[in-house]
Amino acid sequence: MKIVLTAHADEAADLVAREILDALGDKPDLVLGLATGSTPIGVYQRLCDAVARGEASFARVRTFNLDEYLDLPAEHPRSYRTFMREHLFEGIDIPPGNVAFPPSEGGDLEARCGAYEERIREAGGIDIQLLGIGRNGHIGFNEPTSSLRSRTRIKTLTARTLEDNARFYADGESQPVLAATMGIGTILDARRILLQAIGAKKADAVRAMVEGPVSSFFPASMLQVHPLVTAFLDPEAASLLTMRDYYDETRRQELRLREERRL
Ligand code: PGA
Repeated sequence: MKIVLTAHADEAADLVAREILDALGDKPDLVLGLATGSTPIGVYQRLCDAVARGEASFARVRTFNLDEYLDLPAEHPRSYRTFMREHLFEGIDIPPGNVAFPPSEGGDLEARCGAYEERIREAGGIDIQLLGIGRNGHIGFNEPTSSLRSRTRIKTLTARTLEDNARFYADGESQPVLAATMGIGTILDARRILLQAIGAKKADAVRAMVEGPVSSFFPASMLQVHPLVTAFLDPEAASLLTMRDYYDETRRQELRLREERRL
């Protein structure tokens, strides 16, 4: 896993947005896997800004979101479809038919989760998957003990995840306990994975993901088996890593080789 220790959250968002925009420059029909939550908002803002400045177009891009709460209607203020509309889709020129979410309403969910996987395959697979990380190590809504080769399916959320996301719900408002999510296997099929972690409350999770053992009890640790994962961390999220000097040196060496055009 490549670790990028940034000076602050804005630098992490700048770097991730730059990676996506560069990839889009190379491949206008890029296939993106998208995440929700507080973490990717800065990246989405930068993508919207690039489109507003006429520097990028998402007209041929296809997107697949990681997860969605079960039974929240698309227009519900807390649905991830609303989140994505407000934070990204309204600000870029992507055709509505090019965005997809795992099935979270109606019946026949198992078959439709399989169809979601098929739709990703038909699009040619995900080129870049954006990820955040939950304090309990979840990626998407793959909670601890998720099968390390799981595919898109319905998951029950842990008490800890419900507590972490309670801030988005008013007192007394009911919070969904089920969600449709890409599996860990689905996520690992992406060609590249860009993960961001911001803030001291992610420090334990980052340490376990980067320096801990691979375990279904900490799903993000499975990213260690993927060949092209970059984790962009702010100083607080990186604060418990034991090999910070090495990660910095690794990045310096990589930048040097790139400058010399040897990579
Ligand atoms: P956050 O959530 O970006 O709101 O911290 C991340 C996650 O739970 O995956």
